Amino acid sequence: MKKSLFAIGIGFLLVGSIIFTSCEGKEGPMGPAGPTGNNGAPGTNGTNGSNGVNGINGVNGTNGLDGKDANSSCLVCHTVANFDAKIVEYQLSKHYMGNTSSRFTKFCATCHTHEGFQETQGNGSFVVRNDMPNATRINCKTCHAHTGFDFSDTLAQILTTVSPVYLNYNKNLTATDFGKINNLCVTCHQIRGYTSLVYSDTTLTPDVINKPFDQLPYFPFVNTDDNAPVSYLVGRSFSVHDGNQSNLFKGINGYEYAGKTYTRTWTHSDASCTDCHMNEFNATTGKGGHTLWVNEEECTACHKSDKITPVQNLIDGKRIELAELLTARKVFRKTTNSSGVVSYSAMNTHDFNGKLYPTTQTPGDLFATSTGNNTVSPTTGLVVYGNMLKYDKDANYQYRIGRQWKYGELGAAYNYAYINSELSLGAHNPTYALQLLQNSIDWLNANPGK
Ligand code: HEC
Ligand code: HEC
Ligand code: HEC
Ligand code: HEC
Ligand code: HEC
Ligand code: HEC
Repeated sequence: MKKSLFAIGIGFLLVGSIIFTSCEGKEGPMGPAGPTGNNGAPGTNGTNGSNGVNGINGVNGTNGLDGKDANSSCLVCHTVANFDAKIVEYQLSKHYMGNTSSRFTKFCATCHTHEGFQETQGNGSFVVRNDMPNATRINCKTCHAHTGFDFSDTLAQILTTVSPVYLNYNKNLTATDFGKINNLCVTCHQIRGYTSLVYSDTTLTPDVINKPFDQLPYFPFVNTDDNAPVSYLVGRSFSVHDGNQSNLFKGINGYEYAGKTYTRTWTHSDASCTDCHMNEFNATTGKGGHTLWVNEEECTACHKSDKITPVQNLIDGKRIELAELLTARKVFRKTTNSSGVVSYSAMNTHDFNGKLYPTTQTPGDLFATSTGNNTVSPTTGLVVYGNMLKYDKDANYQYRIGRQWKYGELGAAYNYAYINSELSLGAHNPTYALQLLQNSIDWLNANPGK
């Protein structure tokens, strides 16, 4: 098993803080208790003999005896071998292999680059001020920072942040505590918020000026009526997208149907992300440790058999069952690409300006859709924000539902995306994942379309 940092932390408390003492090379005589209230006045520690150089640290005088351990306190972590090992492991992680290019825009850099994370952590914002074309990928110092060497709280003192996280779900207004290490991971491993600049085009009639891209406008739910109507406009997104691990693990922020009860905790709720994602490193499989990949052999040792695959198969079956129900009532559209890969996409009910899409083609009738994408300028290397609107005939009328959704339908579509984007296929909380999917399926069956 990995070393316990908490144990290390206690060690430091005994050791005290004077690294400089050790440089003297010999042990000072036990000083009398440091004069209280006389902190730091140079010279007041004269009786401390070899500790004289530490006069400014006067309050620590009584720790002189322990000075010889100071170096080894750092060496618990700071050996060349340990750091080399961490570097080798980390190079196997997706963080290291990941791609930063085109993810350096203001809306992506916070989580996808080192510099973006540093900036937002430093100033408490959620989006960096400018695009960061020179930004680099996530590295040791993205997650690690030293504050003080008195080691009263080792984790907090070597990690960039352990503070509760302002989630995009609640529009960054309240902080949710996932537990210390988890707060570090979850700062990035949550849904992304705004992903684009405003749409703006004055050449069109009607004008479209400064309409923001609207992420998760329907959430969190003030609505308690599963049958209440809701329009799904082009340009508004309820999609969860990447990084939803945090919410499933804690069993929160799914669409929960009125009158149903949900179980939030499960066997491993008290674990940290790192208990599984930084477990014992195996050089042969390249998993565990700072690779951030789960070394599943470690799990089987306790489970005796593979408990993960059956859970994932069960949940994935439910995920597809739900998607098929949503496709049948034209909330989703199912497509199969040339390699046979099936995907489902949610169908908008209304265009960008809120005009209902009909289910039959109306010749000459135009709808506002988005066109153009952000591109990277070959000359400046900066992002050219290219999200624009155009007016066009609707080519997908036969896939449209032709009415507003009900919240129950939106919630079911949302729960599908919640599980689909989460990547663990329910392994982060099998109980809650199954309840979200099954209750969605049950609601759809009990409330036929139209
Ligand atoms: C619990 C593990 C741990 C302990 C104990 C620890 N450090 Fe660190 N230290 C780290 C990590 C992790 C980093 C970040 C690695 C990096 O920046 O590449 C770091 C970074 C540093 C850096 C910055 C290096 C740089 O290039 O910016 C200094 C200086 C440092 N530590 C000094 C110390 C001293 C002195 C002690 C003992 C009083 C100590 N550390 C104890 C884990 C530890
Ligand atoms: C600075 C933001 C940030 C922090 C902090 C962070 N991650 Fe990540 N993580 C990412 C991003 C971005 C990716 C996707 C990398 C890519 O593909 O470019 C990722 C990818 C991963 C993956 C691989 C996912 C896949 O696509 O298969 C795992 C596993 C992971 N992170 C675990 C962790 C754990 C565990 C922690 C906490 C110890 C953590 N991460 C902290 C941003 C972060
Ligand atoms: C709140 C943090 C956050 C923001 C902001 C964010 N991402 Fe991510 N992104 C992640 C994490 C964490 C992962 C890896 C885990 C996962 O995929 O579930 C990821 C994964 C991805 C992936 C899939 C993995 C890969 O490397 O192919 C793509 C593509 C991606 N992000 C693109 C973007 C783009 C483009 C933006 C900006 C519009 C963006 N992300 C903004 C956190 C974020
Ligand atoms: C995604 C965030 C993340 C990144 C990137 C990261 N670490 Fe860590 N590191 C952690 C966390 C979290 C812990 C504490 C693990 C625990 O206690 O469960 C840790 C612990 C450590 C420790 C102390 C524990 C030990 O086993 O010695 C060292 C040293 C360390 N990391 C070095 C590094 C180095 C070197 C790099 C770059 C190659 C690096 N880390 C990159 C998150 C990260
Ligand atoms: C009980 C152990 C456990 C805990 C705790 C845990 N995970 Fe996972 N995680 C898993 C398993 C198992 C998978 C699926 C891996 C697979 O199928 O290969 C996974 C998958 C992932 C993935 C996708 C990686 C991939 O294989 O594509 C990411 C990202 C991730 N977890 C992040 C996190 C974060 C962030 C936390 C903390 C909030 C966390 N995990 C907590 C066990 C755990
Ligand atoms: C200390 C023992 C122990 C270790 C180590 C352990 N688990 Fe578990 N795990 C349990 C127990 C106990 C259960 C609940 C009993 C059961 O479902 O049969 C469980 C259940 C699970 C379940 C739910 C299975 C189900 O059928 O609902 C998942 C998923 C899981 N563990 C993931 C992991 C992963 C991933 C790891 C390794 C990173 C891991 N566990 C390591 C003890 C452990």
